[in-house]
Amino acid sequence: MAGPPVSLSARDVGSFAYLTVKDRLPQILTKAIDTLHRHKSEFFKKHGEKGLEAEKKAISLLSKLRNELQTDKPIVPLVEKFVDTDLWNQYLEYQQSLLNESNGKPRWFLSPWLFVECYMYRRIHEAIIQSPPIDDFDIFKELKDQNFFESQESIIALCTHLQELMKTIEELDENQLKNEFFKVLQISLWGNKCDLSLSGGKTISQKTNLINSLEDLKPFILVNDMEHLWSLLSNCKKKREKASITRVDIVLDNSGFELVTDLVLADFLLSSKLATEIHFYGKTIPWFVSDTTLHDSNWIIEQLKHSNHKWVSKCGVDWENHIKMGRWVYLDHIFWTLPHEFSAMPQVAPDLYATLQKAHLILFKGDLNYRKLTGDRRWEFTVPFHEALNGFHPAPLCSIRTLKAEVQVGLQPGQGEQLTASVPNWLTIGKYGIFQFDGPL
Ligand code: F6P
Ligand code: MG
Repeated sequence: MAGPPVSLSARDVGSFAYLTVKDRLPQILTKAIDTLHRHKSEFFKKHGEKGLEAEKKAISLLSKLRNELQTDKPIVPLVEKFVDTDLWNQYLEYQQSLLNESNGKPRWFLSPWLFVECYMYRRIHEAIIQSPPIDDFDIFKELKDQNFFESQESIIALCTHLQELMKTIEELDENQLKNEFFKVLQISLWGNKCDLSLSGGKTISQKTNLINSLEDLKPFILVNDMEHLWSLLSNCKKKREKASITRVDIVLDNSGFELVTDLVLADFLLSSKLATEIHFYGKTIPWFVSDTTLHDSNWIIEQLKHSNHKWVSKCGVDWENHIKMGRWVYLDHIFWTLPHEFSAMPQVAPDLYATLQKAHLILFKGDLNYRKLTGDRRWEFTVPFHEALNGFHPAPLCSIRTLKAEVQVGLQPGQGEQLTASVPNWLTIGKYGIFQFDGPL
């Protein structure tokens, strides 16, 4: 049997990977530099002259990085000691070993896109930790917060919807409950449009009430395995003994509006008793502009709690309570910010793999997680999802993702070709979405 196909890479001139490395990544670096500039007086207020020196240092490191990228220099090892430095440098050596025959070095426009893109975000982090006392500065925080504030109206609508639903949830029959489940799933799917790295760091917020648009958006769901999720969880609920648990794990993606949609989904899972425990996984360091860190998640719950809107603040209070009571558990792990595809998890992060194996269902939010699930490769559109997972089957899992990269598997014969004929850039505009399930039915 032939092995998995080649990785997406910027070496394919004109591809989305190429355009990302050529244009979008330098734009993100320029924005990051600008953010540091704009926080100069804040650094001075906090740390005096030392703060100013640190700002200068971080800016010069980021400018150097941008130059390396734009002139396609070899990828260099990380230098600053951090928990994952050795793993990164080993991975770089592995990339080098793949090129040994040609005597080449891993480079920005030559190596796998997934690797170089992750590497850029890791180097941004390195520039910050090399610049104390501003070494805990989250360069993307401002953008994430802005996305949250600009989505207020939609957040109010979502929280109100959830709280109204809670009042009658016990009285719903099976069919009504299933319909409500499908609604919160779709809300969480379309919440994934709000990623800030696709737009080169410009904010994309949710200004309209998403709930009213769900019907209109349905035709854009290309793979729809929501029924599988329902059968799996409703069976767990039926079979569950009194003291036993049903655990759903959510591998989070973006903070801001998307995170609120994920928390709404998680709250619904508990209230409907489809699950009894939720584990969330976030990032340990700022990542792909908008990804959720522990700090972002705490910040959002705190904001909601103090909202003037009674249903929004009720959500904040309830959610904080879920955390206190251990019904919701937030975990981070360094693996999520490594460049490895998920099929490498049993070797690279066996502890994390063992944790995931205990879930009844794992939901992977967002585009980057899909790229890592499928190895970010040039798969044929009709290859089964199970095959593209390349042995990664810790538990039944589902990708909930809007498409923002040129990788998609598990389509019907002809479906991809038809889309290409009518909407040439359907894979990368974030307009289409999937619920793609893998696991025993
Ligand atoms: O820079 C491109 C990318 O990796 C795309 O795959 C996607 O646009 C984005 O970054 C991340 O999207 P998400 O937040 O949905 O993982
Ligand atoms: Mg993201």
